[in-house]
Amino acid sequence: MFSASPQKTKKIGEIFAKNCLKIKRKKGALVLGLKGTLGGGKTTFLQGFAKGFGIKDRILSPTFVILKKFSIPKSKNQRFPNFYHIDCYRVSSLKEISSLGFKQIISSTQNIVAIEWAERILKILPKDTLFLKFCFVGPKKRKISCGIIKNKANQSLITNIFKELALRAF
Ligand SMILES: Nc1ncnc2c1ncn2[C@@H]1O[C@H](COP(=O)(O)OP(=O)(O)OP(=O)(O)O)[C@@H](O)[C@H]1O
Ligand SMILES: [Mg+2]
Repeated sequence: MFSASPQKTKKIGEIFAKNCLKIKRKKGALVLGLKGTLGGGKTTFLQGFAKGFGIKDRILSPTFVILKKFSIPKSKNQRFPNFYHIDCYRVSSLKEISSLGFKQIISSTQNIVAIEWAERILKILPKDTLFLKFCFVGPKKRKISCGIIKNKANQSLITNIFKELALRAF
């Protein structure tokens, strides 16, 4: 899918979030792995993603902070109280991530976890991580794509999201 502006990328993020809230996790957190080039729009997407959860705080590109936890307001959903934004750009070893309680975070069904530069910590990501790739196409144009999805729940999540996006004629 293509986005022609930061606003559109945010809107796509918002639609993703709303659909994520409908999911019921049987095991572990819902983990989104964001890959792609510098300035591809990962953080921009997550700004819309957080908005979709009703989170009012600003989502920033963490310069020194690797992990930030946000509370998802109860009024928006009953299943996921927490949203974690993790940015692995500056992560130099898996230990660094492990020491932040990463295992616990991804093992709770109450958490939604979005990880920028997920390719840096592939080894410790859950098998059913949903990967999104952000590519720079032109000054304002980005391509957002997902790879092959083997997991049934993720497959239906993506199908629903794409249906909704198609209706909006992006
Ligand atoms: N269609 C678009 N979608 C998203 N961002 C866009 C788009 N067009 C222009 N931009 C601009 O590109 C930049 C994207 O930066 P952003 O921080 O979201 O990327 P990133 O993938 O998180 O980068 P990093 O790898 O540094 O974390 C922003 O300055 C944004 O305004
Ligand atoms: Mg970023």
